[in-house]
Amino acid sequence: MTSETIQKLLADINGLQCKSLKEVEDARVRLLGKKGEITALFEEFRTVDKDVKRELGRPLNELKQAAIAKIEELRSALEASGPAEGSSEDLSMPGVQYELGSRHPVSIVRQQIVDIFRKFGYDVAEGPEIEDDYHVFEALNFPPNHPARDMQDTFFVSAGHLNPLLLRTHTSSVQVRAMESMKLPIRVICPGRVFRNEAISARAHCIFHQVEGLYIDEGVTFADLKQAILLFAREMFGADAQIRMRPSFFPFTEPSAEVDVSCNICHGKGCNICKGTGWLEIMGCGMVDPNVLEASGIDSKRYSGFAFGMGIERIAMLKWQVNDLRHYFENDLRFLHEFEGATEV
Ligand code: PHE
Repeated sequence: MTSETIQKLLADINGLQCKSLKEVEDARVRLLGKKGEITALFEEFRTVDKDVKRELGRPLNELKQAAIAKIEELRSALEASGPAEGSSEDLSMPGVQYELGSRHPVSIVRQQIVDIFRKFGYDVAEGPEIEDDYHVFEALNFPPNHPARDMQDTFFVSAGHLNPLLLRTHTSSVQVRAMESMKLPIRVICPGRVFRNEAISARAHCIFHQVEGLYIDEGVTFADLKQAILLFAREMFGADAQIRMRPSFFPFTEPSAEVDVSCNICHGKGCNICKGTGWLEIMGCGMVDPNVLEASGIDSKRYSGFAFGMGIERIAMLKWQVNDLRHYFENDLRFLHEFEGATEV
């Protein structure tokens, strides 16, 4: 073994080129494997004279280090440039197509409702989905044993406490928060997601969306409520829309009513959407019960107000004749694409 043998091999190693990982591995075996060239030089080194050892020991070690470094450099360069020959990837395959999204029908209708009430001077208020019993029931005049608090209807987060946490069953809770924090007069709408422990079917879901509204000022009457809802119905369902009110009951309003709008499909003649009646139920409403005003510190002798609440999915179903509530939550692109561009009121 001479210094030239080592120099020559070093030059070879520095000029080494490989086109595949397999070639790198072959080079490693040829140089550093059990029967490799460098391994053989180390074998031979054991047998040479002392002065040769002194002269060639260091260059031989450097040669080995250079070979290891070169092999590593070639391997990582090839790995970084991705799979080449022998790879199972078919580079001629067409790419994955990403569908372009469109706005969800619930978002479209929510925005339409918000825009209509914004024009009437209402602010938008939002509140927590996880609420306490006080804001969902107690402050709204629900008696302690009212069935709506029952496990059947409400998802409790922490049951058994005096004021348990629960998933709000309506956004009236946001109206309570508005009464607590806003200056009078108050004119707000509260859009948001609500939760009820219902079996999922074409007509009911455990998650849905509401817009509730509240107007409190001096001298607000039922006539104002009726006018606000008539104007809303005409903006939402067309200039010829009619409304009618049927007496109803809610713990937080007195008197209370259910509102029907004239069927925009058959225009009162009777069809299967309105079940032959010519009318479609769209919301609940009423004059805020004085107990509710007082619970939030509002003088019920001086102030009065009205409130209303509607389901966004229901309005969207009536507008577009969707016959199954479950479509809204399945994210089937064939359904969602039907509403592309449906943004105008
Ligand atoms: N909070 C009622 C519900 O969820 C709707 C409603 C709101 C009724 C305001 C009257 C007044 O069903």
